[in-house]
Amino acid sequence: MNSNETNRRASFSGRLGFVLSTAGSAVGLGNIWRFPYLAARYGGGIFLLVYLLLVLTFGYTMIVAETAIGRMTRKSPVGAYHSCGSGKMLHVGGWINAIIPILIVPYYSVIGGWVCKYLFEYLCGHLNAVAGDGYFTSFITNGVSVEFWFIVFSLAALIIIYAGVENGIERVSRFMMPALVVLALIIVVYSVTRPGALAGVKYFLVPNIKNFSWMTVVSAMGQMFYSLSIAMGILITFGSYMKDDVSIEQATFHVGFFDTAIATMSGLMIIPAVFAFNGGDPATLKAGPSLMFITMPNIFAHMGFGGPVGILFFVLVLFAALTSAISLLESAVSTLVDELHWSRSLSTVIMAVIMIGLGTLSSLGYGPLGAVTIIGMQFLDFFDFLTNSVMMPIAALFTCYIVTRVIGIDRIEEEVTKSGMNFRLKAIFTFMIRYLCPIFLAVILISSIANVFGFISM
Ligand code: PHE
Repeated sequence: MNSNETNRRASFSGRLGFVLSTAGSAVGLGNIWRFPYLAARYGGGIFLLVYLLLVLTFGYTMIVAETAIGRMTRKSPVGAYHSCGSGKMLHVGGWINAIIPILIVPYYSVIGGWVCKYLFEYLCGHLNAVAGDGYFTSFITNGVSVEFWFIVFSLAALIIIYAGVENGIERVSRFMMPALVVLALIIVVYSVTRPGALAGVKYFLVPNIKNFSWMTVVSAMGQMFYSLSIAMGILITFGSYMKDDVSIEQATFHVGFFDTAIATMSGLMIIPAVFAFNGGDPATLKAGPSLMFITMPNIFAHMGFGGPVGILFFVLVLFAALTSAISLLESAVSTLVDELHWSRSLSTVIMAVIMIGLGTLSSLGYGPLGAVTIIGMQFLDFFDFLTNSVMMPIAALFTCYIVTRVIGIDRIEEEVTKSGMNFRLKAIFTFMIRYLCPIFLAVILISSIANVFGFISM
């Protein structure tokens, strides 16, 4: 972020500043770890198709709406909602947006800890050990080790936030993001050319309606929010740093494109490898959160230079995870500073306590706390479900409400066209935000809750 101050508020230097920072937040574990396992689990090609359609319609609409709200109010979510009008509804809406990052960052850091652990093992040269059967399970069920690595990752993120070295992070980001793309390309080529991998490429790229279920839509939708960092106030905050002469439509398009490209590449790294090494075993495909930690080590153990490539891969994943965790923390801390008027250091300390407390539940959830479940889920899965399937649809519903009923589409158009560009997709935007988004959100919300409580099975 540039340190230019306009009206005491920091602003990005231009479109590139916005795109890079937002992409740094958007590209993270969601793309490399979460997207491939959801795609593998919920239908392969049909999941990808549904996801792409959602990004182009729904994602586009929400991303533009949130960025415009941020830029017109020049505030972070609670304040932004407040300055659009008064009333309890808006207050609640602002806070829901603001609380989501506070709930995500603890369990996000647990996965960040898993990445640190794997990086460490590669640095020690334990290339074959980590690819061994059952290695991952024995790691995550070992409470002490998981907790240790979770704290390592959390401290790294907290120290950066405390020191506020945003500039440093951004400078590194410029180099790391392209490096991530190049490395991903190399691994994709390696992965898809393994004998037997083609079936995986087909499974991931060719939609097969037989694999479709309602869960395909629900999970693709939750993933879209998560990956694009929408429905959690982040884009409102980033929009508030955006200068008036930057085209909202263009800038958000670039972010969405980049984010989706990285997710698709991650799918192509991981899913074909499942076919090459496990013959497309359905149990492996449905493995869930462990998928990346099992298939990637398998690839590295079989390829030449697997050790160095493994190190590089986990360094880049760690970096992507850190930039995302930092943006989550930054938004949490700034909410506490802005709304509760605490100092930045007090807010950071309070966030550290919340993070370690909630994160510990998630980190021990597969091991010592394995017997404790909430509505049938381990803590980590529960927090993931609560934020992605329940709170984000609610936050997005508020955004639809505020745009259509409080601010008005004309005002959004005024904001989008401030840069001198036309609002090219206004018709789609209007239709989506008025009708399709709210209906869809309500259906998703009700069905995912009903599913968890066993009223329906998806
Ligand atoms: N979008 C990030 C990812 O894909 C996660 C994230 C969510 C980051 C919310 C910031 C805010 O990993």
